[in-house]
Amino acid sequence: MKNIVVFASGSGSNFQSIIDSVQAGKLNTRIVGLISNKHGIKSLERASNYHIPYRVISESDYEHYEEYSIALLEQLQSWDTDLIILAGFLRKVPTLVIQAFEHRILNIHPSLLPKYGGKGFYGLHVHTAVIEAGDRYSGCTVHVVSEEYDKGPILEQAKVKVYKSDTPQTLAKRVLEQEHILYPKVISNYLTSLS
Ligand code: GRF
Repeated sequence: MKNIVVFASGSGSNFQSIIDSVQAGKLNTRIVGLISNKHGIKSLERASNYHIPYRVISESDYEHYEEYSIALLEQLQSWDTDLIILAGFLRKVPTLVIQAFEHRILNIHPSLLPKYGGKGFYGLHVHTAVIEAGDRYSGCTVHVVSEEYDKGPILEQAKVKVYKSDTPQTLAKRVLEQEHILYPKVISNYLTSLS
């Protein structure tokens, strides 16, 4: 069985959907740890509720960026990580980690990439832009993480319709519901493809 480590910076509703899928026997993996860059967030509470080890590793605790990158790598190695799952991690993953885990980092993004990806497109900013552009559809994308932000190979997407009455909040809620279905499914398929 492969080991996954989740990276999260916020509420962690996607983290929860992954935990639920594992518990329901739909996702055959071991969640060996959670890494966050912030204290006091709901994701950490979720980890401790399920006795999942967690570490807060923040760039600001290190004098040099390289030390931060190495701290992340060492933690990942000590957990014997096969696959990293970004679930609302609001920091760029250091190049050193991306290179060490080439093709072994997945991310979920709340838009139909390549639309509304890259710098500045996170949280409600994405949904506001979709509504302002008058798009008829939005959705979410699971992709492999490469060194270019939100640009790695796309694995799967789920679409939702955008209604005239939508606000960024209502659209975000509908997209998030799809994320919770899509991400565990794609992780499961991806794990079976890992040698
Ligand atoms: C999700 O919308 C995800 O697409 C994005 O960050 C958000 C995380 O939400 N990358 P949550 O913390 O999993 O609730």
